[in-house]
Order: sequence, then structure tokens, then C-alpha cells
Amino acid sequence: GTLKILVCGGGNGAHCMAALASCRPHVEVRVLTLYKDEAESWTKALEEDDMTISITYSENHTEDVKSRPSLVTKDPEKATDGIHMIFFTVPAFAHEQYLNAISKYVLDNTLLIGLPGQAGFEFQAVKALGTKAKQCAVASFESLPWACRIMEFGRHVQLLGFKESLGAAILIGSKSNLTAHSLDIIQFIFGENPVFKVINNYVAINLMAKSIIHPPLMYGRWRGYKGEVLQEKPLFYQGVDEEQAGLLSKVSDEVVNTAKVIQDKRKNIDMSAVIHILDWYREYYCHEISDHSCLMKAMQTNKAYDGLLHPMKPGGDDGKGFIPDFHYRYTREDVPFGLVVMKGIAEIAGVETPTIDTIITWAQKQLGKEFIVGNRLTGKDMNETRAPQVYGFETLDHLFHV
Ligand code: NAI
Repeated sequence: GTLKILVCGGGNGAHCMAALASCRPHVEVRVLTLYKDEAESWTKALEEDDMTISITYSENHTEDVKSRPSLVTKDPEKATDGIHMIFFTVPAFAHEQYLNAISKYVLDNTLLIGLPGQAGFEFQAVKALGTKAKQCAVASFESLPWACRIMEFGRHVQLLGFKESLGAAILIGSKSNLTAHSLDIIQFIFGENPVFKVINNYVAINLMAKSIIHPPLMYGRWRGYKGEVLQEKPLFYQGVDEEQAGLLSKVSDEVVNTAKVIQDKRKNIDMSAVIHILDWYREYYCHEISDHSCLMKAMQTNKAYDGLLHPMKPGGDDGKGFIPDFHYRYTREDVPFGLVVMKGIAEIAGVETPTIDTIITWAQKQLGKEFIVGNRLTGKDMNETRAPQVYGFETLDHLFHV
């Protein structure tokens, strides 16, 4: 029969996912977007023509492919009717809105997929599903499979590059008949690349989320910022200095250490997929990086990062200069749905995380929030994060019996 999938979201990733999956035989693709008038404008675009996806396979091999989802709507009931798999392809701060919209229509044996999940997706999904969670499964990918961007809303999306491999974990409800083979079907939908690696437990995938990269770089670059207006936007990755790279490396050490301590305490749990960020770069961007000698060089010479800039907004009286945007997703998404979740898991494992604590403390000030107090997650805005503690998980036993 036909596999029916739903893509939630209306941004770069959702466009890419919808267009790519619509190319596959025997797959029906629908899109649910709740943001502003995205559903109307995407539908209108489809009345005129199919979508175009421009796929970059290599430097001198690109291909334009035409395809279309069968429906784009903001109506969660129509969107979910008869659906087998639901992909969440939106920034993490929008997950809850979609989960709440679809949860009452979800059928038994539906697979919910965070693409990417970002840290804490499983906790939030299980809570939103309530008693249905046992009949369903929740999968989470460590990142988006592609670098992609919308060229024209509802019409044209560019797939700039594929990751070579990508980790995914699946949490299967005890009364569901889904299995880890569901990930094979997802591989078919995506095509050859990236190659999926099944990560054996969801706690590991939470510690693998790539939300660890942006906050230390933001903190390193802007911690002494006094409000000056810049005439140019600084390079985000190519401009990384030793101090920023050192901060990221320490954050990664703390996360890897958390995984090791969990593994020591639970001999039957495999946390080996949680590797240091430098090793991850060497593996995932093997061909894009020209100097692998250290983390700073690896980031500066990663072709996938060419020309990417710091998030800035207009500043200065004449509106000509730039000031840093601390509400961009590098902090707004990657702290409450990233570092804070990892800190929460570290607290449960009994691991100290001084560098992560310092960065959360700085970032929450920029966001006007309070997550951490000293080195404990007791701030008044903790409910706006996805730390396990927010969902009542306080011990390793809790974590491994979701
Ligand atoms: P995006 O920035 O294109 O997402 C924008 C979309 O999110 C909007 O079109 C809307 O549908 C929704 N949205 C935005 N603000 C909202 C709000 N206040 N309420 C409800 N919905 C709202 O995001 P993109 O690029 O699709 O990324 C999705 C995820 O993938 C993110 O977690 C991102 O960090 C990650 N990612 C993206 C990559 C890329 O190349 N685009 C690469 C690696 C990871």
C-alpha cells in the first residue's frame, strides 16, 4: 500500500523534506504548517506549479527535480487522517505547538520523528501523547540530514549538501507493534545519503544533539560585549579563535564524560556513540574539512560552513551597522532545548559541568530567562526547557524506563 507521511513545519527543512519525499514512489506526503499564513501561501504556490528541489550531489553534479505534496494545510485533523509517520521539521521551540495539535488524532502504531529532535524531544512527545505513547514510537535524529534553504516559498528549495552519516534513536512504546525496522523505511524515503546509524538508546542521542556548538561560540565571541555597533557581520565558523574552540571542546568533554559515567553505572547501556566534537567533525565532514589538525582549524576550514555569519540585527543611529542578535536560535533554541537538557542529564548522572553552567548563565541573561542558579537547574523559567526534571525524571532509573 501507500505509505502516508506528514511533515510538520514550513521552513527550510520542511520544504526539503516535503519535496524530497514526494519524489518517492508509493509515498503520499502531506504538510501541516501552523505558522502565520504559510499553509495558504504554499497551497497557492502549488496551484500554479509543482515544487522544484535543486539537489547538489557534488560540486559539479546538481539536479532539479519536480514534485508535490498531496496537501498543505493548517488543519491538524485533515493533515493526520490515516497517517503512518509524522516528521517534525521545525526549530525545537515550535515542537510543542505541533505535538499538542496532532496528539488527539494520532492513530496506534504511528511513528513520530524529530528531524532533528534536538535534546528533550522524546520527553515532550511522550508527555503530549499521554496514554497513547505506549501504542506509538518516537524517533529522533541527531541533526538535519541536509544543509538546505528555501529559494522561493512553496516553490523552490535548494539542497546544498548531504551529511555522510547520521545517528537516529527510536523509543518504542510497549504496546506498539513498531520495530527498529521503521528506520529502514525512513532510509528509503531519504535515499542513499546520509547513511543512518541506529543509536541504541535515546539518552545517547540526547547527548549527541548538535546544539552544543553554537552557544560556546556565541559566549566566546560576545561575553565582553558592551553594546558597540559593528560595521560588518563577523564570520561565525571561519572566524572561530582558540578561546572559542577551547570552550566548545570543554563543553564536549563534559557531555562525553556524562555519557561515560552513565555507561559505568549501567553496564548494559551503550553510550559509545557520544564522541568528542572534534572526532565528530573528522567523521561527518571528512571531505569538507581541509585541515583536521585541531578543532579550531577543522571549523575554520570546513567548506560546509563557508561564509556563514554571526546572527546580527541592524544597529546604530543611521541603521547602517550591526549588533548581535541574542534571540536567534543559536541561543533561543540551543540553550533551553540543548545545553539545559544535557545539564539536566548530567545532574541525574551526578556529573559536574562547570563550562556548560557558565555558558547557560551568560545565555539566560541575554534571553531574559532564569534556568540555572549557581550550578543547579532551579531557575524560575525551567518549565520553558526540556530538561528531564521538568517531566519528573530525577534518577537514572526514571530515564531508562520511559
Ligand atoms: P527555519 O528557520 O527554516 O524554520 C522556520 C519555520 O519554523 C517557519 O517557516 C515556521 O514554519 C516555523 N516557525 C518559526 N517561528 C515560529 C513560531 N514562533 N511559531 C511556530 N512556528 C514557527 O528552520 P530550518 O532551517 O527548517 O531548521 C529546522 C531544524 O533543523 C532546526 O532545529 C535547525 O537548527 C536544524 N538544522 C537546519 C539546517 C539547515 O540547513 N536548514 C542544518 C542543520 C540543522
